[in-house]
Amino acid sequence: MNYNLIASAAFGLEGLVRRELNQLGFDAQAENGFVRFSGTLEDAYRANLWLRTADRVSLLMAEGDVRTFEDLFRLVRGVTWQQLMPRDAAFPVQCKCVRSQLMSPSDCQAIAKKALAEELMAYYHMPWCSESGPHFPIHISIHQNHARVMVDTSGDALNKRGYRTWNGEAPLRETLAAAVVQLSGWKGDIPVYDPCCGTGTLLIEAAYWAARRAPGLTRHFLVETWPDVSAKTLERILNEAKAAYTPSAVPPIAGSDIDPQAIELCKRHLQQAGLDQHITVSVADLATLQLDDSPVFFLANPPYGERLSDQKQCLALYRAMRQMTDRHPQSRLAVLSGNPSFERAYGRRANKKRRLYNGRLECELMLF
Ligand SMILES: C[S@@+](CC[C@H](N)C(=O)[O-])C[C@H]1O[C@@H](n2cnc3c(N)ncnc32)[C@H](O)[C@@H]1O
Repeated sequence: MNYNLIASAAFGLEGLVRRELNQLGFDAQAENGFVRFSGTLEDAYRANLWLRTADRVSLLMAEGDVRTFEDLFRLVRGVTWQQLMPRDAAFPVQCKCVRSQLMSPSDCQAIAKKALAEELMAYYHMPWCSESGPHFPIHISIHQNHARVMVDTSGDALNKRGYRTWNGEAPLRETLAAAVVQLSGWKGDIPVYDPCCGTGTLLIEAAYWAARRAPGLTRHFLVETWPDVSAKTLERILNEAKAAYTPSAVPPIAGSDIDPQAIELCKRHLQQAGLDQHITVSVADLATLQLDDSPVFFLANPPYGERLSDQKQCLALYRAMRQMTDRHPQSRLAVLSGNPSFERAYGRRANKKRRLYNGRLECELMLF
């Protein structure tokens, strides 16, 4: 059976998610904060497995304008839930209301839960719902009186690849790091170096992308636990992903950081990502960094200096980055920074810029 599917994404990454879906063979349309496509439950699994820049994949079960609780009840009750859910399905409901007449998430949750339970009880002839079986988390978003009723297929958010268990100072979300890699202009052809690699997210995402390693290869997704999913098809999709992974295709990837503790964490992440044999990291100050003469692509997410007291130090670091790239005349640089003074301190205008969001913080990806 085909479902309407939604891949949600951080603001600014929708176009990239659409491109990734197109590369997976789906026809997809981007809107603010999400991308629509369609497919089977097995397709939803494949999207979960492969999408690098999306937050989660959901089934869109219903959508429409709602101004009253009655409208919401009818919208949810109108779905033939039994096509998806067995009699013992557990269905926790979460609701988010933004600039809408219905403004109480807890009341909306209660109404939606009642509507869904009534539908299942009527179909399965049950006096109540035991909710002792597989989980089908319902997410309802009501934005300007327009409701979307979705079922989460991912479970943990997709940035949870499984390799990051420790957080350093200001780590980069895996999905944003994957976006930086794809937007940086690096083609996977020359060595990559992150001179302030912290816990290693950019290095790992660069290696995964270049090696065609599905980011979700070693984790599980909620959709796998549902009764109507073909285990055989999922196994085939997983085996195809395993076969696609070619670590030998990755050019040298390395990094350093001035903080020994960050490098310790980074090494553990590399090991958990299965990349400790492919990526080397060390403790080094980028102000004195000297690599050999071959072309190198610097990928970096330096500190932004959010506190006023850190500003001076940050600007000095950006000047040191300029000297670092000058010492490597064959280098290119892609920087993600939330500091509007980066270009001025670096002393050069970026050839290309793109606005991205690190959480709520507006940043720019600058290519030099
Ligand atoms: C925003 S964090 C990078 C986070 C990293 N992308 C991650 O995912 O964990 C900035 C990093 O720059 C490092 N740093 C600051 N000054 C440095 C310097 N002079 N040389 C090298 N690294 C430096 C910090 O130790 C910190 O780990």
